[in-house]
Amino acid sequence: MKNNVIEFSKSEAVRDAIFKFTTDFLDNKPLNIGEVGCARSEIGRATDGWSTFFWADYVYKNGGSLKVCDIEKEAINFVNETIPEKYKVESFYMSGTDFLKEKQPFDFIYLDGSNDPDETRKQFYLIKETTRAILVDDWDTKGFIRSQEQQEEFEEAGFIFCNMQHVYGCMGLIIRQSDKDRMEELINKI
Ligand SMILES: C[S@@+](CC[C@H](N)C(=O)[O-])C[C@H]1O[C@@H](n2cnc3c(N)ncnc32)[C@H](O)[C@@H]1O
Repeated sequence: MKNNVIEFSKSEAVRDAIFKFTTDFLDNKPLNIGEVGCARSEIGRATDGWSTFFWADYVYKNGGSLKVCDIEKEAINFVNETIPEKYKVESFYMSGTDFLKEKQPFDFIYLDGSNDPDETRKQFYLIKETTRAILVDDWDTKGFIRSQEQQEEFEEAGFIFCNMQHVYGCMGLIIRQSDKDRMEELINKI
C-alpha cells in the first residue's frame, strides 16, 4: 500500500517530534502553512521525506491550508500523486524565493529547500513581517546566522532562534520575541 497521510499513525518518529512541538507552540489552531522543498520519497521519514505528509495531515485535522513548492518536477509530481486530493495540498513548481514572494502571507513556514545559507537568509527576510514562526531544517547547512553581525541583525528584526536538536541533526525554529513566554511555558512542560 502507498505510504500516504492516511497511514500517519506509523510509529517511526524523529523530526516528527519537532514538527509536533512546533504545532503545539502554534496552539494546534487552523494554520496557513507554506513549505519550501517538499517530500519526494516514501522512505526516510526521520530525516528526509514525509514532511509534506505531516503538514497535510495537520491542516486536514486542524484547518487552514498547505501550499508547497519545489524546483524539481519529480518532487511536485510525487506530492500530487501520493497525497490524496481530500487533503487539498496546493503545489507549485517554482523556486522557494519566488514562491514566498508570490504566495505569502503564511502563519507558519517550513524551509527545507536549498542548502545555500544565503538563500535561506534571503527567504527569511522576505517573510519576516508576515509569518509568526519559521522552521528551518538542516540548520547546520541551511542556517544563516553565522556571524556576530548576522546575529545582531536577526535580533534587531525582533526574532529568537531555538535550536531543535534531534538524533540525526538539528533544525532552527525561529519565533518572534513577543512569543518568548509561550515558548518558555511549552519548554517547561517537556
Ligand atoms: C531535503 S529535500 C526536501 C525534503 C522534504 N522537505 C522532506 O522532508 O520530505 C530538498 C528539496 O528542496 C528542493 N529545492 C532545492 N532548492 C530549492 C529552491 N531554491 N527552491 C525550492 N525548492 C528547492 C529540492 O529539489 C528538494 O526536493
